[in-house]
Amino acid sequence: MKILVVGTGYVGLVTGVCLSDIGHEVTCFDISSEKIDLLKSGRSPIYEPGLEQLMEKNVKANKLFFTSNVQEAYQSVDCIFIAVGTPETRDGSADLTYVEEVALTIAESIKQDTIVVIKSTVPVGTNDYIERLINERTGEGIKVHLVSNPEFLREGSAIKDTFEGSRIVIGSNSQEAGDFIEEIYSPLSIPIVRTDIRSAEMIKYASNAFLATKISFINEVANLCEKTGANVEEVAVGMGFDKRIGNQFLKAGIGFGGSCFPKDTKALISLANEYDSSSYILDAVLKVNDIQKKRLVEKVKDYFIDIQGKKAAILGLAFKPNTNDIREAPSLELIDELLSLGTEVHVYDPIALENVKEIYGDRVYFHHSIDEAIENADMALLVTEWREVKGFPLKKYKELMKRPVVFDGRNVLSPFDAKKEEITYFSIGR
Ligand code: UDX
Repeated sequence: MKILVVGTGYVGLVTGVCLSDIGHEVTCFDISSEKIDLLKSGRSPIYEPGLEQLMEKNVKANKLFFTSNVQEAYQSVDCIFIAVGTPETRDGSADLTYVEEVALTIAESIKQDTIVVIKSTVPVGTNDYIERLINERTGEGIKVHLVSNPEFLREGSAIKDTFEGSRIVIGSNSQEAGDFIEEIYSPLSIPIVRTDIRSAEMIKYASNAFLATKISFINEVANLCEKTGANVEEVAVGMGFDKRIGNQFLKAGIGFGGSCFPKDTKALISLANEYDSSSYILDAVLKVNDIQKKRLVEKVKDYFIDIQGKKAAILGLAFKPNTNDIREAPSLELIDELLSLGTEVHVYDPIALENVKEIYGDRVYFHHSIDEAIENADMALLVTEWREVKGFPLKKYKELMKRPVVFDGRNVLSPFDAKKEEITYFSIGR
C-alpha cells in the first residue's frame, strides 16, 4: 500500500521505516527540510539502534522515500499517518497545534477519499474533532475516515517494539477503515485490538499512566524499605512472581523521565479536570516522582556536611540507556540542585553530552570517559544504567577518586561488592 507518514520524529520515523520494511511504499514527510536532507543522506535525526541500517535497506529497495514537498507527499496515497508532536502546554494539556496544521494540509491536498490514522498521542475526542475539521474543508464529495492507532514503542528498542509489540490497537468508527489498517499490519504477527476511536485514544494514556504508577509505587515502597531495613529489589522480585502484578516496571530508582510518562500523565490529569473527574492516583504518581528525582541529592546532603566546592561526577545523563534523549531526565534536576549548592559538576554520558551542553554550556565539565569524569572526585552519582556504567570496575572508584563515595540512583551496583571494595555506597531502597 502507498502510505504517507507525516512527521519524522521518533514515532513517525520508526513507523515509516518499519512499515516500508514489511512491504509498503512509504513516504516520510516533514516540514523541516534540514531533517529531510539529513534523512536523504542516510542519517537519522534521532538516535535509535538499527534504524539507519533499516532505512538504508528500504531506500535501496525503493520502498522508502523522504520529502518536505507538500504536493509530492500528499499525491495519491492510500492512507496518511499523522505522527507529529503533541507537546505539553503550560497547564499540562496536550498541544494539538501541529496535528491541526497537518489536518488542514490534508483537507487542502487530498483528491480522493482517504484514511487518516493518528499515531500521535492525543486526548480522547481528538480523532473525532480532526475528522470533522478535515471533512468540513475537503473538496466536493471527498471524505476522510479517522483511525486511532496509538504507538507503544520505547526509545532504544523502538524497532523491536514495532515488529514484536504486545498489541496493535486500532480504534475506528468505520469498520472498513479499521479493516484497512488491520490489513497494513497483517505481515506482523501481533495481536490486534479493535475498539471504538475514543477507547483507543484512552488506551494509550491509561497504559502510560499505569506504567508510571507502577514506578512511583515501587519508588514509594523503596523509600519505606530504606527506613524499615527491607530491600526493595527483593521485595520487587517477591511481588513480581504474582502474575497479577507482573515483574516489569518495578525497578526503583530516581524517578521516571522521557517524552511520554511525565507528559502523558499530566495530559490525563488535565483531561480528568476538563471532565470534572477525579485524578487522585495520577496526582500522587507525579508528586512521588518529583520527590524521587531529589532523592539522590538528599542523600548527598545528608552525607557531606559541607558540599560547597566538592567535585561531583554524574555518570549517565540520558533519561534511560540507549538514547540521547534528556527530556525530563532526572540528571537535569540533579545538575541544577548540585550547582545551586556550589558543587563542581562533572558529567559523562556515552551519547547525550551534546544535548546537555546546549543547556549548561561551560557551567558544567563534560567528559568522554568515566575515568576522566571521576578523577579526583569527591562523589560519583550513577544516574543512567548504561552498560559502561554498570560494568565499570569497582576498584577504579578507589583508584581514581579523591574518596570512593558512590550514590547509585539506579541500583546498578551490588552493595555487597561495593563494601568489599571499601566504597562508601548509597543506593535506593536497599
Ligand atoms: C514509554 C513506554 O514504555 C512506551 O510504551 C510508550 O510508547 C512511550 O513511553 P520510554 O519513555 O521510551 O517508553 O521509556 P521506558 O523504557 O518506558 O522508561 C521510561 C522511564 O521510566 C525511564 O526514565 C526509566 O528509567 C523509568 N523506569 C522504567 C523506572 O524508573 N523503573 C522501571 O521499572 C521502568
